[in-house]
Amino acid sequence: MGICWSVRIKAVSPSHTSATASVGVNAKFVSKDFDLSGSTGSVPPTPRSEGEILQSSNLKSFNFSDLKSATRNFRPDSVLGEGGFGSVFKGWIDEHAFTAAKPGTGLVIAVKRLNQEGLQGHREWLAEINYLGQFQHPNLVKLIGYCLEEEHRLLVYEFMPRGSLENHLFRRGSYFQPLSWKLRMRVALGAAKGLAFLHNAATQVIYRDFKTSNILIDSSYNAKLSDFGLAKDGPVGDKSHVSTRVMGTYGYAAPEYLATGHLTARSDVYSFGVVLLEMLSGRRALDKNRPNGEHNLVEWAKPCLGSKRKIFRVLDARIEGQYSLGEALKAADLALQCLSVEAKLRPIMDKVVATLEQLQDSKEVTRSSHNERNVNRPIRSSTGPKYRRRNAIEPSSGKAASYPRPSASPLYE
Ligand SMILES: Nc1ncnc2c1ncn2[C@@H]1O[C@H](COP(=O)(O)OP(=O)(O)O)[C@@H](O)[C@H]1O
Ligand SMILES: [Mg+2]
Repeated sequence: MGICWSVRIKAVSPSHTSATASVGVNAKFVSKDFDLSGSTGSVPPTPRSEGEILQSSNLKSFNFSDLKSATRNFRPDSVLGEGGFGSVFKGWIDEHAFTAAKPGTGLVIAVKRLNQEGLQGHREWLAEINYLGQFQHPNLVKLIGYCLEEEHRLLVYEFMPRGSLENHLFRRGSYFQPLSWKLRMRVALGAAKGLAFLHNAATQVIYRDFKTSNILIDSSYNAKLSDFGLAKDGPVGDKSHVSTRVMGTYGYAAPEYLATGHLTARSDVYSFGVVLLEMLSGRRALDKNRPNGEHNLVEWAKPCLGSKRKIFRVLDARIEGQYSLGEALKAADLALQCLSVEAKLRPIMDKVVATLEQLQDSKEVTRSSHNERNVNRPIRSSTGPKYRRRNAIEPSSGKAASYPRPSASPLYE
């Protein structure tokens, strides 16, 4: 069709400048959304103006100097994580005055400071305020406030003590122990509830960047969605989809969205399927460090997901013995449905939630008692799987840095 997806103006994040062919692009670019139906008109990020969004939200407006002190001048050793749009720092504020507090006192916060190069960051910053300023839900991270001062754009969230799901699944090291099967199912359910809530909102919201680094975990292993920078209002009236420039993260975006730019809630369901598969397998959606034929998790795993015989090739060896064959097949079948190429065949998120509810306290297997410390050791229960995985343990380098971390960006064909 000869559609020009976008104008690449500038890579925003200097730490993510290496674009890697088909396996991942670690850059975000300054560009405008394109209305593909008209091919030229740009779509505003939200139907409300910036003034309306900032006024209507119940968020606290912070001074830059307070956030600077709260994070001890954005100390490098207080970085909680980095995304394509900026770094996130740990900080402390007085919970009543909202001024900086001594480290270890008052309210712990996470402060996202957007990279200051270009306007794209501003758009995402505003989208987060628009959505997280309106919604409160146990499975959405709480946005406390923002800072808009000269060129500074910051967001202040509740601190999530257990960090992101990405860290729990893929980081190696003593701090992040692999999550047990039970906790994986718990986190999957929480994240599914967050998406279901957005899809069921009066004006439907499509999250558009569902991936493990955007799922945060609190002290009780409740999952909360964060990073609403790419969220978008769903179609209204008799429209079946919204037309957008293709944004998101390689490995997670639904095939029809990649091909057409037509965005629906079912695109999120596909991404949910990818994340569920990452949770079941302990493998990243895209991993070029794997042997040939295993780079793309969905392509590699799909043929095994419905098979009693092959399913154990896919399942994470680190949680072997913690589930029954029935549970594994049920979860794998759910992932398979979410990953249907035909969007209409994917379940709606309410259905996903219902299935995951059933998987929470299944009594099918007498699980070996385990805790977060010993899940590294394969445990075999008498009713557990009878098959040995071929690739039982991934080569562990002891560091996560070797893998190019996927970040959201415009996606190109
Ligand atoms: N509220 C928070 N509490 C703890 N860690 C957080 C919080 N928000 C973000 N992080 C960490 O920072 C990383 C990047 O945050 P994110 O909001 O996804 O940024 P970006 O919009 O740049 O992708 C997350 O993957 C997580 O590890
Ligand atoms: Mg992110």
